[in-house]
Amino acid sequence: MKSRMASLSLAVVLLGVSFVLSAKGQQNSAKAGVQDTKGHSVYDELSKAPEKARAKRNPFEKDPQAVAAGRILFEQHCAECHGDAAQGGKKGPSLRVADVQDAEPGALFWILTNGIVRKGMPVWSKLPEPQRWQIVSYIRSLGVAPAQADSPPAKSQPPETMDLFSRHR
Ligand code: HEC
Repeated sequence: MKSRMASLSLAVVLLGVSFVLSAKGQQNSAKAGVQDTKGHSVYDELSKAPEKARAKRNPFEKDPQAVAAGRILFEQHCAECHGDAAQGGKKGPSLRVADVQDAEPGALFWILTNGIVRKGMPVWSKLPEPQRWQIVSYIRSLGVAPAQADSPPAKSQPPETMDLFSRHR
C-alpha cells in the first residue's frame, strides 16, 4: 500500500515536471520565434525573392484605401496564423519585424504568391493580384512593433527592492 502511494506520488511529480518542461519549451520557442533549429531566421525566405519579383511596384503604393481593404483581407485570411494585428500568433511569425517591414513590397507579394508551403505558409495565388497588393499595403502600414509588446514584460524586480529604490530617491 505504502509503495503504491509512493509510486503514485512519483507519477504525480513526474507529470508535474513534464508539464513544466513542456510549458518552458513553448515559452522558449515563442521567444526564439524567429530562429529555427539551425539558427536560420524564419524570414530568410523573403531574401530569396528573385530580382524581378522584388522590382515589382505596388500599384496601390500611395492609396490609403488599399490599406483599409488589405486590413479586412488580412483579418479574413492571415490573422488566424499571424495574429490580429500581424504581431505573430500560434502558427505564424510576427510580420511587425524589420525583416518584413523593410522587405521590398515585391518580395512580400512574391511570398504571398508562392507561399512557403513546407514551413506552413500557404500559397495565396488564388487571391486576385490587387488583393495581394492591398494586403502588402496593409502589412507595410503597420511598421515594426515595439519588441515583444504583446507578451508580458520580463520579470520585474521583487517589490522589496523597488521599495528600497523609491525610499532612497
Ligand atoms: C496556416 C497558417 C498561415 C496563414 C493562414 C498565413 N501564414 Fe504567413 N506564414 C506562416 C508561417 C508558418 C510562416 C513562416 C514560414 C517560415 O518559416 O519561413 C509564414 C510567413 C509569412 C511571411 C514571412 C515570410 C518569411 O520569410 O517567413 C509573410 C510576409 C507572411 N507569412 C504573410 C502572410 C499573409 C499576408 C497571409 C494572409 C494572406 C498569411 N501569411 C497567411 C503561416 C501562415
